[in-house]
Amino acid sequence: MEPVTVLVLSLSCLLLLSLWRQSSERSKLPPGPTPLPIIGNFLQIDAKNISQSLTNFSKVYGPVFTLYLGRKPTVVLHGYEAVKEALIDHGEEFAGRGRLPVVEKVTKGLGIAFSNGSRWKEIRHFSLMTLRNLGMGKRTIEDRVQEEAQCLVEELRKTNGSPCDPTFILSCAPCNVICSILFQNRFDYKDQDFLNLIEKMEEIDKILSSPWLQVCNNFPSLIDYCPGSHQIILKNVNYIRSYIVEKIKEHQESLNIANPRDFIDYYLIKQEQEIHNQQSEFTFEHLAITANNLLAAGTETTSTTLRYALLLLLKHPHVTAKVQEEIDRVVGRHRSPCMKDRSHMPYTDAVIHEVQRFIDILPNSLPHEVICDIKFRNYLIPKGTTVITSLSSVLHDSKEFPNPEAFDPGHFLDKNGDFKKSDYFMPFSAGKRICVGEGLARMELFLFLTTILQNFKLKSLVHTKDINITPVANGLASLPPPYKICFIPV
Ligand code: HEM
Ligand SMILES: *[C@@H]1O[C@H](CO)[C@@H](O)[C@H](O)[C@H]1NC(C)=O
Ligand SMILES: *[C@@H]1O[C@H](CO)[C@@H](O)[C@H](O)[C@H]1NC(C)=O
Ligand SMILES: *[C@@H]1O[C@H](CO)[C@@H](O)[C@H](O)[C@H]1NC(C)=O
Repeated sequence: MEPVTVLVLSLSCLLLLSLWRQSSERSKLPPGPTPLPIIGNFLQIDAKNISQSLTNFSKVYGPVFTLYLGRKPTVVLHGYEAVKEALIDHGEEFAGRGRLPVVEKVTKGLGIAFSNGSRWKEIRHFSLMTLRNLGMGKRTIEDRVQEEAQCLVEELRKTNGSPCDPTFILSCAPCNVICSILFQNRFDYKDQDFLNLIEKMEEIDKILSSPWLQVCNNFPSLIDYCPGSHQIILKNVNYIRSYIVEKIKEHQESLNIANPRDFIDYYLIKQEQEIHNQQSEFTFEHLAITANNLLAAGTETTSTTLRYALLLLLKHPHVTAKVQEEIDRVVGRHRSPCMKDRSHMPYTDAVIHEVQRFIDILPNSLPHEVICDIKFRNYLIPKGTTVITSLSSVLHDSKEFPNPEAFDPGHFLDKNGDFKKSDYFMPFSAGKRICVGEGLARMELFLFLTTILQNFKLKSLVHTKDINITPVANGLASLPPPYKICFIPV
């Protein structure tokens, strides 16, 4: 045979082989739209409305389908059954964290939110235990949140009932709660260190939610060409990190093992106990990144929920009136609301659940990854495949929540007006990766909102029917549109 013929024949064989391998790989994965070479299904996804795009795909391909974001397959789980089956029934296999290259550069696989395997398990377990211990100590987490709620009210009082954009003040309060848990003390809302921390975090969040970042995450090789932004992330993270490092050093000097004051103290004690373990996960660097994770995960999510809650309360004055009536009846005017009150306030509890359901703040959660090959509903999902769980599809299920597009606290009330739990309430996700701060966040939402409504009437500048509550399209999180509000002291 001619050498050229041999070459052509063997090249064709190789090509066929690779096509065959690709399609046989695909044939075991869940169905989905045909990907284009290199860019995959990118052009078929509306970057401004990712949730809606996923819903549209699920109508064609069912509740479990495959998308190619770039060359790698991503399995999407849509609807309660599929999400629950993965996160709860196969919790262990689906507990990996999907790759986010932009974040990886910064966290290097450390911390809670973007780590994996036994390292993730240990630090997550430690963090949950520590939050629990701090919840029961001499100065409980509830004390800290109540103190912050009073400071928040004082700060809102300073607006003198004039129209304001509540974004900044509502970021300070949740940030301060985490600071108090990590560093023992809250900050004054005018403290320059505090303002710097918040500013750097806001800048990071802005970049993290921009559409180009989604592109960079799916084409990691582009990261180094992406315009400046991830350098800004690195710079800001390093700023926050150096602040935390300074605080850790102060803690090392003042540590009293018999009397841990905060998260850092508990960590330093744990580190001391593991001093002879060469493989210990409890390193200095790991604490810095874990503290950073808690600050980042705990501030913006909670403050956005508070800001959206106030907008919805402006839009629905009759709901607000009923909450205020319940506060008056159960708490009165002369003491601060506390967590014990919640079980006597079914309407308020239902309103807060409905806020979280309705706003659907992280429509697609954070990406997961399967940690081993797994057979799921007769498909084979190979180890390392990214998995997206549509929390949005669970929170908007019309069987569980009649008229899911409407804001209706009745979704969480029974016929007698008692609070009604729902397994479909998943704004914090579910299973092994469920939000570490769920308990804390729900405490903050309850105490901050009831304390605000105990002290102020909310007033809008525009007529209720003109209040816009449509979320601003966004990469990772759903944000409320900007608005102004007046806090009129009662
Ligand atoms: C309304 C407020 C909040 C919402 C809606 C929220 C929601 C979520 C969601 C959906 C996830 C992803 C879970 C998954 O991967 O399946 C998550 C993870 C996480 N959240 Fe939250 N969160 C909130 C507040 C907080 C607070 C206050 C903290 C601080 C203690 C926190 C710390 C974390 C951490 C550390 C993770 C990563 C957990 C892991 O990967 O194992 N969150 N959160
Ligand atoms: C989803 O499908 C509807 C109806 O087919 C279409 O009007 C809409 O533009 C689609 N949305 C997205 C984001 O793909
Ligand atoms: C999780 O671990 C696997 C290998 O064990 C690795 O390929 C993957 O990148 C890790 N994910 C993250 C987010 O570190
Ligand atoms: C997404 O699309 C749905 C239906 O097409 C629409 O109701 C919703 O407002 C859109 N969301 C955004 C953020 O554009």
